[in-house]
Amino acid sequence: MNKVYSVAIDGPAGAGKSTMARRAAAELNFVYVDTGAIYRTIAYAVLNNGILPEETDKIDALLPQLKVKLSWKDGVQHMYLNGADVSKKIRLPEVSSMASKVSALPSVRAFLLDTQRNVAKTNSVIMDGRDIGTVVLPDADVKIYLSASAEVRAKRRFLELQEQGRSDSYEDVLKDMIERDYRDMHRQVAPLKQADDAVLLDTSDLSLEDSVAALLHIIRERIDL
Ligand code: DC
Repeated sequence: MNKVYSVAIDGPAGAGKSTMARRAAAELNFVYVDTGAIYRTIAYAVLNNGILPEETDKIDALLPQLKVKLSWKDGVQHMYLNGADVSKKIRLPEVSSMASKVSALPSVRAFLLDTQRNVAKTNSVIMDGRDIGTVVLPDADVKIYLSASAEVRAKRRFLELQEQGRSDSYEDVLKDMIERDYRDMHRQVAPLKQADDAVLLDTSDLSLEDSVAALLHIIRERIDL
């Protein structure tokens, strides 16, 4: 079997992880794995079943009924929940908020661990999330912690939502982002933090093009492709 490589990218919401990771993966011919989408799929199922995030017994009982599958069409990751493509539905803001709550549950994290690791066993991947370098792929060939100020990240998310025709105010987007940051960084299990051996890339003052170039530079310096 050919050698496979793994690049772990962690960081807070809105740091540009998915856009940059997708671009870098296309350039390197790696599979881009968006692990946030996997947590969003569980969150979507929880919402759809009318379960509240604090009803952890109900969530635990729901998990064995869920078949979560990833597949790629033209390099784009699709999420399937019990056979249905939920890729679009999981992008709604209510799913974002629920995902940051259910992802704090140890049972949910354990349920999804193998799904994430299995992809990296057989493919060269750029995987992004919150605990990829610390928990999911602790032996990744390259680890990057991608960040930007909360204001810059909220502005990017605000513009994205506007493009989707949503009318959420910038203040609400910023507030939601700060709350999600807090939850992601302070949960008991696999909190968001920079791995000791991760390279920090702060994109607050970088254009998207410059950020992607910087990301590719970090990867190519460490993997001989
Ligand atoms: O990256 P995202 O916004 O799509 O992620 C949605 C939520 O899922 C986020 O609030 C935290 C959680 N998440 C996580 O806990 N661990 C990951 N590896 C990826 C996402």
